Amino acid sequence: MHIQFENGIFHLYNQNISYVIGILKNNHLGHYYFGKRLFGELREDMFRMDQKRGLSNYIEKDDMTFSLSHELLEFPCFGTTDYREPAIDLKLPSGSRIVDFKYITHRTYTGKKKIDLPATWGKEALNLEIDLYDDVAETLITLTYSLFEGINVIAKNVLIKNLGQGSITINRVMSSSIDLRDCHWDMVQFSGDWARERHEFVSKLRPGIQSIYSRRGASSAQHNPTAILKRTNTTEFAGEAIGLAFVYSGNFIIQSEVDSNQAVRLQCGIHPENFSWQLEHQMSFQAPEAILSYTSEGLNDLSKQFHNVFRDHLIQKKWQSYKKPVLLNNWEATYFDFTEDKLLDLASEACELGVELFVLDDGWFGVRNGDKTGLGDWFVNTDKLPNGLKFISNSIKSKGMQFGLWIEPEMVNENTQLISLHPDWVIGDPKRSKSHGRNQYVLDFTQTQVVDGIYNQLIKVLDDCPVDYIKWDMNRNITEAFSVHLTADQQGELHHRYILGVYDLYERLTQRYPHILFESCASGGARFDPAMLYFAPQAWTSDNTDAIERLKIQYSTSMFYPITSMGSHVSEVPNHQVGRMTSLRTRTQVAYFGTFGYELDITKLSDDDKLDIKKDITTFKQHRNLIHTGDFIRLQSPYFSNEVSWMVVDEKKSEALVGWYQVMAKPNQQPLILRLSGLGSNKKYKINDDQVYSGSYLMTHGLLLRQAFNGIEFSGDPAGDFQSRLFHLVEV
Ligand code: DGJ
Repeated sequence: MHIQFENGIFHLYNQNISYVIGILKNNHLGHYYFGKRLFGELREDMFRMDQKRGLSNYIEKDDMTFSLSHELLEFPCFGTTDYREPAIDLKLPSGSRIVDFKYITHRTYTGKKKIDLPATWGKEALNLEIDLYDDVAETLITLTYSLFEGINVIAKNVLIKNLGQGSITINRVMSSSIDLRDCHWDMVQFSGDWARERHEFVSKLRPGIQSIYSRRGASSAQHNPTAILKRTNTTEFAGEAIGLAFVYSGNFIIQSEVDSNQAVRLQCGIHPENFSWQLEHQMSFQAPEAILSYTSEGLNDLSKQFHNVFRDHLIQKKWQSYKKPVLLNNWEATYFDFTEDKLLDLASEACELGVELFVLDDGWFGVRNGDKTGLGDWFVNTDKLPNGLKFISNSIKSKGMQFGLWIEPEMVNENTQLISLHPDWVIGDPKRSKSHGRNQYVLDFTQTQVVDGIYNQLIKVLDDCPVDYIKWDMNRNITEAFSVHLTADQQGELHHRYILGVYDLYERLTQRYPHILFESCASGGARFDPAMLYFAPQAWTSDNTDAIERLKIQYSTSMFYPITSMGSHVSEVPNHQVGRMTSLRTRTQVAYFGTFGYELDITKLSDDDKLDIKKDITTFKQHRNLIHTGDFIRLQSPYFSNEVSWMVVDEKKSEALVGWYQVMAKPNQQPLILRLSGLGSNKKYKINDDQVYSGSYLMTHGLLLRQAFNGIEFSGDPAGDFQSRLFHLVEV
């Protein structure tokens, strides 16, 4: 990886990608290129032309060739000659919103600097900082770009510093803004709602703006803060694509703007709606990080770049090689209705079967027998657990298992001690009624005393009771966004300050309990975003635990997120979210491709099922390292096919595990073909301890699969809808 500066052109590159920025004649930055690696000399005339154009405004007198409207820009400003959406919108003390940020200097260095937000890290990262200054605004903007060895990504962040005497207001700051020369891209987004998070939607770019966003105070189940631009013919295995991930958990926007020159402006940042930030003299504002990647080798390759950067440079080092424990969570087994005995029965049975971590979900604290009360009172419910939490934890740990606990620290219910002591700790406008979500209200995490209050309650519990894992839930979004503790001018800061409060609590808890594995959760996957991975290396993917629904959810979640971050559990049938019946085998073989665990009342299972679960857990443990450290490759998409498949392969291409699923049974089909990927062409692999095949055969012809039952003959595999098969390949 290299950062070159020659002839006013910055060239950031590694073996596969180039990112080129030029200093334009008005000293703004031009975004010259982002794509496949460029070799040889780079000159300005290769990327831009001086040309007279009609109906344009020009920067210089007597020069009718230079208008920002026709330039590809790196950090566009509003107010001179470009009318597209800017990267920055400031209100100056005069009331003016004209900004004109010009290049003044730059520097490069090795080792990524820590910023005041969750972001990538790496001592070997190569960095470029470019300073831009507007001498009327008396404001300095520093753009930082980072490259990581062997990964085709650029991480970017923006810092704004007010060097003037007055206070300025930031109305908009995009963490990344690049202009691409042509608009022949399709935008892929990951959208949905509760229990159907991150479904894939593809749409052609058209003139104007297409955006995905959240204004809910969390990154949301509705749109994930990630998106892809791909060519129409790009597949999982070939073709160009650009991926963009926003490392932030609050309100965001990702948008593509196609202009009249058929160029695309691709941006991401904190959503400017309802956002403003007062920046006093000498104060700085740190905008969150954005990560960009480019591939010419299809979506699997794009995903690999994000998996690698998230696994190696976002998730904390100590979790990278940590063996994620097989867990049993009591939520779908008992909901709120549990006793000490019931929990210990579940744990004993779990231990017998090989489960390594028992997680006590919602309902252990306050007066929490349903979702109407309890949140905010973080002390043990001794009616339910008469011997306290420590007793439960010790009993579980004495079996050799780990103990995990659920919390939802950002919320409060009515009828709690917390709300009666601190009625002003809730977000809302005292002049208006407050909407509720799941009977709960959002605590005002913009305020340090509120975060302190929750922190102090939680450490009392966690200092006393040994805990190895925490599931941090968040079950509603912000409404009536008003804080009685913020001034009128600061109300636009509420959403961002709230997220800073969440990060602050995460930071304090993860510092104090470095051994605790955190799993983030928000009614399932409503805050599954890159920034959360910085604190919590795994996330509950969805409350939807149905194996067939999970094919889509896990498939498209893997576009950006490594499967080692995806919470995936085997649950009961009929499934609690969709009522579907699926076999234990299918549920298990879908859940294997994630962090793997169980969420059902195992004490009620038949002896046969228990025996199967015991074997399944042993199998998972045998393959756990491969699943969590290998490259994940998507083979057949549930969005386009009745047969779905994916695989993981180790770095040496000597071992692989393949999951194959058939949604609906079909009569009298011809043989199904399972074509693999990522293997060594010249290598030979034994599959499931049986036949040997060459890598080239498996990747070009593909494995022939008999259908389970064709109306006349059974293959030996279970027949009917919702089937799955697992193939373990070992090099021979
Ligand atoms: C929502 C989560 O997604 C569930 O897994 C469970 O923890 C419940 N909340 C508990 O209230």
